[in-house]
Amino acid sequence: MSTWAIVVAAGRGERFGMTHGEPKQYLPLGGRRVLDWSLEAATAHAGGVVLVVPAYAVDRHEPLASAVVAGGQTRSESVRAGLAAVPEEAAVIVVHDAARPVPVPAVWDRVLAAVAAGADAAVPAVPVTDTLREVGGDTVDRQRFVAVQTPQAFRAEALRRAHASTGEGTDDASLVEAAGGRVVVVDGDVANIKITSAVDLLLAEQLCR
Ligand code: C5P
Repeated sequence: MSTWAIVVAAGRGERFGMTHGEPKQYLPLGGRRVLDWSLEAATAHAGGVVLVVPAYAVDRHEPLASAVVAGGQTRSESVRAGLAAVPEEAAVIVVHDAARPVPVPAVWDRVLAAVAAGADAAVPAVPVTDTLREVGGDTVDRQRFVAVQTPQAFRAEALRRAHASTGEGTDDASLVEAAGGRVVVVDGDVANIKITSAVDLLLAEQLCR
């Protein structure tokens, strides 16, 4: 089964803020850029990798990527731009946020195994440790919730169908589910952090050592 990966790195990093005019995925981490770590994990698990970047960065040389395309205004638009560059023959597609650079090969193995076993989609998730409170409402039972990460693996056809309309979501499994697909949840990893603030980058520096 041929597996491709899409690494989405076209965010503007508005919560983190720009540093030296570059969004968070281009910041230095352990001697290279944040996105190089994510690309390396993707190349280790997929036969080809499509990297989705901001339009201004589309001509940069990215030796780890099979193709580099410009993203869109939203994460879902960026995934669709990446999907258009994945060859039709791909049977499985993994979507990964460039903003999750800490290498966690076991998580890639688990999502890929779940799709190989028949799921339309497989997502890694970790327990929620903070108390959760609805804005303007009450505290909710956190046992009922998990925090969902990437990499997320998909039967290619299920992912293409989910993105056939211009749906929006903070991840792709939610779109696959909305299109009637079966989503399996596997164990994520607390080390698989998403870089959203300067503190996350400090933590990633330690975890990437
Ligand atoms: O904004 P958020 O942290 O959820 O972004 C998750 C991932 O999606 C990041 O790697 C970011 O670069 C990417 N993204 C994108 N295009 C957008 C928005 C986010 O590729 N328009």
